[in-house]
Amino acid sequence: MARLEGHGCELHGGGAEGMTEHDAQTIRRILKVNHAGEHGAIRIYAVQSVVARFTAPDIVANLIEMKAHEIEHHMNFAEAMPQRLAKPCRLLFLWAWGGFLLGLATALCGKRMIWICTEAVESAVHDHLNNQLRFLQHCDPSLFNLIAAIKTEEESHLHFAQEGRGPDTVVSRFAVSLIGWVTDVLIWMSTSGDSSRLKVALKNYQQ
Ligand SMILES: [Fe+2]
Ligand SMILES: [Fe+2]
Repeated sequence: MARLEGHGCELHGGGAEGMTEHDAQTIRRILKVNHAGEHGAIRIYAVQSVVARFTAPDIVANLIEMKAHEIEHHMNFAEAMPQRLAKPCRLLFLWAWGGFLLGLATALCGKRMIWICTEAVESAVHDHLNNQLRFLQHCDPSLFNLIAAIKTEEESHLHFAQEGRGPDTVVSRFAVSLIGWVTDVLIWMSTSGDSSRLKVALKNYQQ
């Protein structure tokens, strides 16, 4: 069983002296999904920041800044993995291609669609991180602090996108839902269902 030094966990009967294998596995899944998600986010902003030079030059600097944040998040999660015996997703290339295609398609459509894409992706991220934080506050304080700091930056991306995308319309709501759904399917496929099991684990914890 994976045990974390100084990370007493009281969930699922783990007791103060350590965490159960179930909790340790949930933490590994959190890291695997988050690390893969940042991998995809880097590709989205990377291709958007190139294509936007032609379709939305006034937001290129914002896209480059958000890409820099995602690179740092990716590095933070990679550094947190070995201590917790977490391994990266084996299908990272799916995230890379998914992110690239999503970023390219939306960037070709111009500024409004770029912000709609950012809103959809960051909204999905926001929900995932909130659930993770509720679990980790009792279980892994150092990972809790890391994710809380990352969440602050992800929220700034979300607010920026919501301000930039203009008025809410049927089309924008449809695009946000579609991109959010595609993102969830990609997450599920690339983690071989791990994302569903993580959702169930975190939902059970909240009850
Ligand atoms: Fe990120
Ligand atoms: Fe982000």
